[in-house]
Amino acid sequence: MSKQITIQPNFKISSLLKLKNRDIKIDDYQLYKSGRYSLFFGLKRIIEVNPLLTDIYIPTYVCPQVLMAIDKLDLNINFYQIDQNLSIDKKHLDESVNSNSIIIVINYFGFPSEWEYFEELKLKTKCTLISDNCHSLLTMHNGRNLSRYGDLSFNSFRKILPVLSGSQLFYNNKEYVMKNMISVRTPSLSELLYIFRSFKPVFIKSRLGDSKIFGEYGSKSSKYSFNPNLAYNIDSLSDKLFSNFLDDYQKIRDKRQQNYKSWLEYLPESDFIFLNNLEAINDITPYVFPCIARTNEIMNKWLTWGHKNNISIINWSNKSDNLNNYLRLMLLFPVIPDKDIKETLTNAI
Ligand SMILES: Cc1ncc(COP(=O)(O)O)c(C=O)c1O
Repeated sequence: MSKQITIQPNFKISSLLKLKNRDIKIDDYQLYKSGRYSLFFGLKRIIEVNPLLTDIYIPTYVCPQVLMAIDKLDLNINFYQIDQNLSIDKKHLDESVNSNSIIIVINYFGFPSEWEYFEELKLKTKCTLISDNCHSLLTMHNGRNLSRYGDLSFNSFRKILPVLSGSQLFYNNKEYVMKNMISVRTPSLSELLYIFRSFKPVFIKSRLGDSKIFGEYGSKSSKYSFNPNLAYNIDSLSDKLFSNFLDDYQKIRDKRQQNYKSWLEYLPESDFIFLNNLEAINDITPYVFPCIARTNEIMNKWLTWGHKNNISIINWSNKSDNLNNYLRLMLLFPVIPDKDIKETLTNAI
């Protein structure tokens, strides 16, 4: 098994023994290739049902994959601020949102957003909410999975589960229900390469079959490409695997919580600002351990440390001018459940 500790889980060949057919009677969600595809088709559906919905509100703290889906549609884009505690700028939303607004709400890093506020805003303004649950597939909030919040919600299997692709687009508002037309496709070459990522020798530092695209708004380079007319559906292997993992989420949650705590104990407060409101307890399944480096030099020091120790650490940020300055220095540390971070850290150099 690879010694590299990655943010996203490795595919396990042994899971091929557990392939099973999905329930074909589902009518409350569609399956797509990944989160950005679910978002695109979800937005398309909203506009089809109500063409007056033309204003979209997006948090300033967002990745290009979300923007590339939105860019393909004819919407007026507005941003709302996120601060270093991941709190939202409520004043701005209170003053500008109305019944023609669509708001993207991101549940960052496995933690719920401020849903009580958003649900109240919806009651007041009749706006439309989309829950971006790509980081928080297995997290419950007040006894309800975060995929059940918002008018529509979408997740991203590969970030949390050892599969190749897949994303559920939930129709939590019956108005948007579409006829079930789930289709599957043969895994692509890059997905097949991803299966073998766990066998990659440690000395190969580049990421096999993995894409690492963070950071730039509006980049049109090919690695940011997104084409909803091509291969937008889930691959046939992941389609037969994901429900096993969803049924067995407790083990994943416990291990991720344990690894999260190991980072909290290990990383020095002199180097980082910790997000004290993000406690990985109870119904939280963290995607990563997020924390803010105190300076640019400290951030680079830890990225180099990760490289030396075969631990993938990501600076999850973007280059937007209106991004909070602290969030530019956000680092994400892996908590994947098939590794024991505490044990790894005892041998770190
Ligand atoms: C918050 C967030 N939303 C959406 C996406 C898009 O998900 P996917 O990579 O499955 O298309 C990502 C990651 O890429 C993400 O981090």
